[in-house]
Amino acid sequence: MTPVAGWIAGPGSALQGEVIVPGDKSVSHRAIMLGAIAEGVTRIVGFLEGEDTRATAAIFRQLGVHIEAPSDGVRIVHGVGLHGLQASQEPLDCGNAGTAMRLLTGLLAGQAFDSTLVGDASLSQRPMRRVIDPLAALGAHIDSNDGRAPLRIHGDQPLRGSHIDLVVASAQLKSAVLLAGLYADGETRVSESHPTRDYTERMLTAFGAPCEFAPGVATIRGDATLHGTEVHVPADFSSAAFFLAAATLVPGSDLVLRQVGMNPRRTGLLHVLRMMGANIVEETASVQGGEPVCDLRVRHAPLHGIEVPVELVPDMIDEFPVLFVAAACAQGTTSVRGAAELRVKESDRIAVMAAGLRTLGIRVDETPDGATIHGGKLHGGAVESHGDHRIAMAFAVAAQLADGEVSIGDVANVATSFPGFDDLARDTGFALRDA
Ligand code: S3P
Repeated sequence: MTPVAGWIAGPGSALQGEVIVPGDKSVSHRAIMLGAIAEGVTRIVGFLEGEDTRATAAIFRQLGVHIEAPSDGVRIVHGVGLHGLQASQEPLDCGNAGTAMRLLTGLLAGQAFDSTLVGDASLSQRPMRRVIDPLAALGAHIDSNDGRAPLRIHGDQPLRGSHIDLVVASAQLKSAVLLAGLYADGETRVSESHPTRDYTERMLTAFGAPCEFAPGVATIRGDATLHGTEVHVPADFSSAAFFLAAATLVPGSDLVLRQVGMNPRRTGLLHVLRMMGANIVEETASVQGGEPVCDLRVRHAPLHGIEVPVELVPDMIDEFPVLFVAAACAQGTTSVRGAAELRVKESDRIAVMAAGLRTLGIRVDETPDGATIHGGKLHGGAVESHGDHRIAMAFAVAAQLADGEVSIGDVANVATSFPGFDDLARDTGFALRDA
């Protein structure tokens, strides 16, 4: 299938119905990784069939792990144990996936063999020193292209359990250290400046590894045995976010998002939208595979601008593109600060969102670590997503509110995290077609 180059979207009308968004990307990556180094079989249900998570599965096949895909969203991983991975002569291609590259850097640092990690053009520009340095403190030896991929990870380096203080609040870095810690002597402890998503810690525990954790700190003891298990992947809150925002913004909308993962370290956008005036009700809450899930019923509500609380930034780090759109449609101004990390995501999300919103008629004042967005009227126009999946989907939402059509370029990477977004969006009432 030829990837779609762009979309023509909007103006839209009321969104209605029920939506089930695909499985969580963070959980899907981790389930393959831990399943691969566990003893015995791991069955993953609700696996995200996205390009990022498929890249992770393909890498473990290259490292000698048998992974079956009996049906969509199901993977059976035949674990090879902590020391059972085999060297690959070929580079391991993470594609667009920062999570795959950073977590694998930690895991591969503990192997007896050398590996090379590569990525696409976007991933090859992203900072990797932040993962190399803490791993080097454990004794790892990793060469890079001046702090960027390709990464050459030298095996057979003894790793020593240590206490690592992370400067950047990042679940990817914390997870890389914990995975390397499985191969280190003694105990590895990692502290973070602000608590981030704790899926690695929760999943290590579910696989029987000696991992202890509390918000902001986690420890792992080396040389533990992981045991294969069953992993239920909840629907990805970050994918649901586009529909939460769209149904809030488009007049007349009433939409239900089914069984969305509600890990508290992921739901910052929900709090912020409610602070802005959104009407989102949580229904039928339950716990699935250790994770809280619930249905979210969203009805249109007018929004007003706010100062986004800095402490919520890590809990909504992937949701800023769509929050910028909500802010553009709100009455008054919305300011975001303490979010410099957005500049080193799949694109510079502050600059790319600001540029696109300005094209559509919105005033945005950029700062190094955020922006002030002045709510106004969105017009039609042509915007670029710079190959960033979340920017493409955020502008698809913006287009529903515009007074003319919006053409959105470079949308093929939507398939990295949300395959089928366009069909699902159309089913609920989005005006969206291939360019
Ligand atoms: C992720 C952590 C976040 C997030 C990314 C997924 C993870 O990145 O942006 O989409 O699965 O651990 P950082 O750790 O760099 O903030």
